[in-house]
Amino acid sequence: MCGIVAAVAQRDVAPLLIAGLKALEYRGYDSSGVAVLDRGTIRRVRAKGKVREMEALYLADPLPGGTGIAHTRWATHGVPNEANAHPHIAGRVAIVHNGIIENYVSLRAELQAGGHVFTSETDTEVMAALIDRHIGQGMKLREAVLATVRELEGAYAIAVISSDEPDRVVGARRGAPLLVGVGIGENFLGSDAQALIQVTNRMIYLDEDDVVEITRDSVQVYGLDGMPVERAVHESELSTDAVERGEYRHYMQKEIFEQPRAVADTLEARIGPHGVLPNIFGIDSGALLQATRGLHIVACGTSYHAGLVAKYWIEEYARLPVAVEVASEYRYRETVVPEGTLFVAISQSGETADTLAAMRESRRRGYLGTLAICNVPESSVVREADLKLMTRAGPEIGVASTKAFTTQLAGLALLTLELARRHGLDDDRYAALCAELQRLPRAIGEALQMEPAIIELAADFIQRQHALFLGRGVQYPVALEGALKLKEISYIHAEAYAAGELKHGPLALVDENMPVVAVAPNGPLLDKLKSNLQEVRARGGRLIVFADGAAGMDDMAGSGTMLRVESGGSFIAPAVFTVPLQLLAYHVAVLRGTDVDQPRNLAKSVTVE
Ligand code: G6P
Repeated sequence: MCGIVAAVAQRDVAPLLIAGLKALEYRGYDSSGVAVLDRGTIRRVRAKGKVREMEALYLADPLPGGTGIAHTRWATHGVPNEANAHPHIAGRVAIVHNGIIENYVSLRAELQAGGHVFTSETDTEVMAALIDRHIGQGMKLREAVLATVRELEGAYAIAVISSDEPDRVVGARRGAPLLVGVGIGENFLGSDAQALIQVTNRMIYLDEDDVVEITRDSVQVYGLDGMPVERAVHESELSTDAVERGEYRHYMQKEIFEQPRAVADTLEARIGPHGVLPNIFGIDSGALLQATRGLHIVACGTSYHAGLVAKYWIEEYARLPVAVEVASEYRYRETVVPEGTLFVAISQSGETADTLAAMRESRRRGYLGTLAICNVPESSVVREADLKLMTRAGPEIGVASTKAFTTQLAGLALLTLELARRHGLDDDRYAALCAELQRLPRAIGEALQMEPAIIELAADFIQRQHALFLGRGVQYPVALEGALKLKEISYIHAEAYAAGELKHGPLALVDENMPVVAVAPNGPLLDKLKSNLQEVRARGGRLIVFADGAAGMDDMAGSGTMLRVESGGSFIAPAVFTVPLQLLAYHVAVLRGTDVDQPRNLAKSVTVE
């Protein structure tokens, strides 16, 4: 994901900007660049590849100057190369941009008709040209940025400098984050706090449609109407290192609590008020998704469970057939691939040997194309896929996958919506699902507040040897994921069943020593699930029910422990209900004293067969 850093200071800013870019590297990117105002002239350095490659060019020919902007780019419009890397310059203006401008084609044509010559394929350069044109018509930089953003459709966070006003940076945001770092005699912009924490912990989080102007001594935020607005300064609690545990006892706990941000980052600049933005899976994904008649999803472990959730979603909303298979099975059997089938690989690391091998095998099997949903931009799975969607979970250190799973669900929800829109879902339902998905980060944040109740519940599991997890419909894979979490870090034997299967076998195991965890959101299957739970109750099983805040579960009271989860809607419920199950596994493991982050016999990235 693109990253932005900008600064106005008395000292040379390029080293600060480059340090900020390095802190944003976890987001994934394929090129980077810095532009600095050097005695009234804009000078820049850009390079494909790692920040350190761009830095080497900078060190060979430093850019002195106290005003600058910098960027890490993850290619959307135009391949990753130096010409497409940010900052982009037009006349007296340089700009860095995160997001996608939907109406850039018409704006570009209009500017070209007026004689503007573009040097890149990006939508960003269009913004630079528009701002420069407005300045040429007599506007100040801030006015020119305001006038330009009013002409834009789509998502953006930008930072802009102008050689006419070398003492300032102007920023703006819509649908992509931008914040201000407030220093002493120096001020900063960044796309997340991680980029700025090395220089200040005082942050102003900008709202949608804010425009901000920073100088060394001032920060002023404006609304889209150009009127000044007040925004509070917050003291950030962030550590200076994304992979430090900070206040958390384990990485797993930290990563569970990072989920609202990780999911918000994954949705950022990909879904807007009118729906999913174009080509978020890569250039020309539209034609491929249009031609898709079915999907084969292949993955391992937790990523496989994300694929199972997607099967329920895609079949319900897009009405396309989906087969989901663990990669180690897929690669060695003869699958039938109907015409028009899209191959989807899901992997946190992008290096899991079976998933990678399955993807390579798929090349021989005649798929329409391959899509990778992955957390590591430079991984093999990503490099080899035709289409890609990066989850933006940041580094996941705990072996038990948590934020990688919920961000995969966010990515798969976007895929579901893209497919559904193209394959007949009606506009109203599409709009409602989009709105629901945008509520997901908040809903996960609310679910995290269940932690104290879950710590109490966990005490009950310390002496247990076995546990059963039950779910129906789209919550069945959530039950599978809950059981996997518990077994891999607490070493309690846990199994998950589709609740309707209970009486076909596992009911024989149920007695007063068997905790039965049920995932029970509101929905058409709730009454069916209740009947299954009555079967458990009748056998003396110890029920733990995670029920929707809105569901009528009062008749189940007295059967064990009932915990309310505010699902935020049936579409996003699988991601939300996952959170208490993660917390349960985590706290049971802590109480049992296991090595939570590095459970015995397991590895984070399984690169052997
Ligand atoms: C290992 C990890 C799991 C992960 C699985 C698949 O087993 O411990 O947490 O779900 O690999 O990994 P991937 O990186 O492909 O998602």
